[in-house]
Amino acid sequence: MNLKNADILSIDQFEKADIAEIFSVAAAMEPYAHREKITRVLEGAILGNIFFEPSTRTRMSFATSFQRLGGAVYEVADLSSTSLVKGESLYDTSRVMENYVDLFVVRHPTQGAVQDFAKATSRPLISGGDGTGEHPTQALLDLYTIMKEQDRSFDQLDGLSIAMVGDLKHGRTVHSLTKLLSLFKNIRFTWIAPEALKMPDSILEEARQLGHHVHQTEDFKMGIAKADVIYMTRLQEERFTSKEEARLHRGRYSLNRRTYEQCCSPKTLILHPLPRDQRANEIDMDLNDHPALGIFRQAANGIPIRMALFAMILDVYPFK
Ligand code: CP
Repeated sequence: MNLKNADILSIDQFEKADIAEIFSVAAAMEPYAHREKITRVLEGAILGNIFFEPSTRTRMSFATSFQRLGGAVYEVADLSSTSLVKGESLYDTSRVMENYVDLFVVRHPTQGAVQDFAKATSRPLISGGDGTGEHPTQALLDLYTIMKEQDRSFDQLDGLSIAMVGDLKHGRTVHSLTKLLSLFKNIRFTWIAPEALKMPDSILEEARQLGHHVHQTEDFKMGIAKADVIYMTRLQEERFTSKEEARLHRGRYSLNRRTYEQCCSPKTLILHPLPRDQRANEIDMDLNDHPALGIFRQAANGIPIRMALFAMILDVYPFK
């Protein structure tokens, strides 16, 4: 796949070979990500980093990645700071902003809005999270992290056992990660969620039809036993119509050191796309210094992955 000028909107657009290519470029970006080497290949280019929904990691790591490649970043971190509040459409916003930037990253709370923004512009656009839909670049960095942390080659991902825990209905990261892992063979998905927050049927059916093993349960300890990877997630309280309903589920699943050591092999990797909600304690602070806790290294891996995407989309890799 040639990513030159491509949009990145969904994992559905990728084949397995595309992922191998992105990871290979990401590996080449590592010394630049850590400033062991310097490049200015994107000097003069401007990224429109447009976030209509809160973000710490995704917005900052996209900005850092672009700047590590020598580009400049124009930031919108709040819908209320744009003329959308004066009644301007998303279409007009996209058409106008494209005059000021070379490429967009867009996050929006409404599923489908990122696609609408992309359709309106001739500039390439990377989704930074599309409501309850997908978060494709998070899935890429998650899988890259699993490979690095468990020292697996691309071919050694077949047969991976992963427990995804929490709000699987609204969690766009687990939707994208399921689709991404489904490109491999014989993945063992254990989805641990309350009945009301189960993985959407469309994603479940897709994984089953591709021959993967899917098990759904509300039993946390049973579900995480035998997993190679535990992927905890936050209750997406902002997606609920009623705060009371959301609070019914808050704190339902919490992983601490004792549970981890009781139920899991010491090789089981603990991931979370973050933020972890300290009111709900999805991952207890007593795991902060545990070697199995990969969450901060996972967040750091957003840099080489996002640098790779920028370099491929803006066609500056290999560097001259
Ligand atoms: N993982 C993630 O999307 O985090 P942010 O919401 O902070 O960007």
